[in-house]
Formats: sequence, C-alpha cells, structure tokens
Amino acid sequence: MKGKILVTGGTGYIGSHTVVELQAAGYEVVIIDNLSNSNKEVLDGIEKISGIRPVFVEADCTDMAALTKLFDENPGINGIINFAASKAVGESVQKPLLYYRNNLVTLVNLLELMPKYGTKGIVFSSSCTVYGEPDVNPVDETAPIKKATSPYGNTKQISEEIISDYITSGAPIKSILLRYFNPVGAHPSAEIGELPNGVPQNLIPFLTQTAIGIRKELSVFGNDYNTPDGSCIRDFINVVDLAKAHVKALERMLEDKSDEKLEVFNLGTGVGLSVLELINAFETATGVKVPHKIVGRREGDIEKVWANPDRANNVLGWKATTSIEDTMRSAWNWQLRLRERGIM
Ligand code: NAD
Ligand code: WQD
Repeated sequence: MKGKILVTGGTGYIGSHTVVELQAAGYEVVIIDNLSNSNKEVLDGIEKISGIRPVFVEADCTDMAALTKLFDENPGINGIINFAASKAVGESVQKPLLYYRNNLVTLVNLLELMPKYGTKGIVFSSSCTVYGEPDVNPVDETAPIKKATSPYGNTKQISEEIISDYITSGAPIKSILLRYFNPVGAHPSAEIGELPNGVPQNLIPFLTQTAIGIRKELSVFGNDYNTPDGSCIRDFINVVDLAKAHVKALERMLEDKSDEKLEVFNLGTGVGLSVLELINAFETATGVKVPHKIVGRREGDIEKVWANPDRANNVLGWKATTSIEDTMRSAWNWQLRLRERGIM
C-alpha cells in the first residue's frame, strides 16, 4: 500500500471516479460522505470496478466530533482529497449561509485536524469559476481572480485563501489546489457516473436526459455571444482524466516531488468547445438525436472560458487524453444504465 487517503465526498461524482483511480494506484481509501448528494450504492459501483470496497464512514465533515472519531479509528491517514461541498450555483444564491457553512467549515475542520494526526497533504477541489469571465483565453494559473458571482464561487475563492493563509502561518502541511474546468462523462464501465438531483442545471445531464426522453427539449442558453457559432464556449474535461490528476497531485505532495508547500493547477483539455459543438459531438458519437432549441441567455453565464493546461501537463505530468466522442459515449452509456436500473 502506498498510503492511506481520506476522500471527503467520495461517493459523489468526481470523488467516486477518483477513489477508483487511487485504488488502482495502490492507495488505501477511507471515504467520508454525508450522502447529501449521493448514495451508498456508489460503493457497489466502485467495488465492481476495482474489486476493493473502500472503508466508508457516513458522517458530516462539518461535525468535528465525527471527523475526530474517523481519524482516531483510521490511524495513519497520509493525505486528504477534499471533494465534500455543496455545488449548485443557483441554490447558493438562495441559501448562502448553507454554502458558507458547509464548504468552509468542512475545510477548516480538516485543516485543523491535519497537524494533530500527522496528515501531510490536502488536495482541494477548486474551480475555473474563480477566473470569472477571463480577459484572455486560454486561461493559465496566473490569470486574475475575479469577484465571485455566486456564494458557491465565493466559497472556492475563500477556501483557496484559507489554505494559503494557513500554510503561510507555518502549518506543517502541503496543499495542491486543482481548478477544474467543466467535468463531464462517466466511467467507461458505466458502473459510476453523475447522479443529478431533480432537474439538472448542468448541460450534460440535461442533454442525456433529453436524449433518453425524460426531458422534451434541451434549451441552448443564447446564440448571440461573441463566439463563432454564438453559443458559449467551455472546456469539457473527462471525469476519469480528471480523477487521474488527483493521483498525480497526491504523489507530488506525499513523495515531496516539489519543495513548494502550495501549488495550483488548471485541469482542462486546453480546447474550447461551444454548446452547439458539444451537442453535435454527442449526436455523432452516439447516433442519438438531441431535440434542442435556442432560448435567451442564462443570467450569470460566462461567454467563453477554456484552460491553458501547460502547467498540469509539464509540471504535474498529467494530460487529458480522452476524446470528446468517447466522453459523450460514456455519458450516454451511464444514462442508459440509470434507465436499466430504474433510477431514471
Ligand atoms: P457531488 O455533489 O457529486 O459530490 C460531493 C459529495 O460531497 C456528495 O457525495 C455529497 O453527499 C458530499 N458532501 C457534501 N457536503 C458534505 C459534508 N458536509 N460532509 C460530508 N459529505 C458531504 O459533486 P462533484 O461534482 O463530485 O464535485 C466535487 C467537488 O468538486 C466539489 O467540491 C465541487 O465544488 C468541485 N467542483 C465540481 C465541479 C463540477 O462541475 N462538478 C467543477 C468544479 C469544482
Ligand atoms: C455549460 C454551458 C450554459 C444547461 C458550472 C458552474 C461552475 C462549475 C461547472 C463548479 C453554459 C449551457 C447549460 C442547459 C445550456 N462548477 N447550458 N443549456 O455554467 O459552465 O459551470 O459548472 O465549480 O462553477 O457554474 O456549466 O453545465 O451549467 O453550462 O445551454 O440546459 O451550457 O449556458 O454555456 P457552467 P453548465
């Protein structure tokens, strides 16, 4: 075993894919999740893929007593990957305190416990949302942080600052901040994937639910942007590729491959794809049509953002390799699996 890793939010979308990659790399995984946005069956999916059932603790990371108990009962946790957070942008505008409490108290609790239990490093799930509408694309890590447009986005900015301040204060820990662009797709086995709650707000789950007939039509939010086809541009990053970057980040911290105590990496493909191009890629890859119509812009949307992933490529030694067609097929196969299982 290479070490014991605590994965908070490990039954969630990105967390579950990362657990599988950690296991494949030889790490022992302990998951903590309060199941507020996932369910226990995800553990079966993980076990089917890897043959290993991770230790699972159903608890809330804002509960310091529960977290302390977890560290006492699972001695020797070397590293943490902190996925646990609330992530719905719209909901965060309605319930800001829920977001500030959940996302920030979770992080502070973990940081406080790390030195006490000798945990060396923490990987933090940040987001390209910290760049807002960037002045130039592709965006590298030196681009200015723009004022957050939602409490959710603000929790990511504040979290990055909390980690930085703590390390500057001399705390004996290391951290890597990973700024994800738009994670999409599912594991190629279709054993795990994204489980959206209610009507999906994000493009891919809405698209696959439309393709399978749960939704009548996909609304494309705007075709009058300053982009070649008028729809918004994003950097859609395959979730398994994304998961693999977390293993690289952990290794870098735990094996002291860098002297830096705090590092930041953009995780994206480096290619911007428009919403209409993405629909087209899905249709080409699966042969399934997606009924869609153009509607007005969605408030708060960024016009175009895609990553410059050079730092992740050259320094972290990680690169996104999955084609958008394979990613779209994986998203579709996952949607079909959900139907098979009678989930939706
Ligand atoms: P997700 O909702 O699928 O996973 C988060 C998991 O954390 C869920 O299983 C949820 O039940 C759990 N959780 C939430 N609060 C908790 C708490 N207090 N204690 C214990 N468990 C808790 O989300 P995801 O898409 O996998 O995102 C993972 C992380 O990546 C989040 O921090 C998110 O903000 C960040 N992120 C996501 C995206 C994206 O588009 N999916 C983009 C950028 C960053
Ligand atoms: C992508 C594009 C929409 C739905 C969000 C968060 C961001 C990050 C990733 C966590 C946009 C368009 C969407 C639909 C559409 N999360 N769209 N019809 O907004 O880029 O980013 O998730 O950190 O913080 O804001 O992702 O999937 O919602 O939208 O036309 O039904 O698809 O307008 O251009 P977004 P998304």
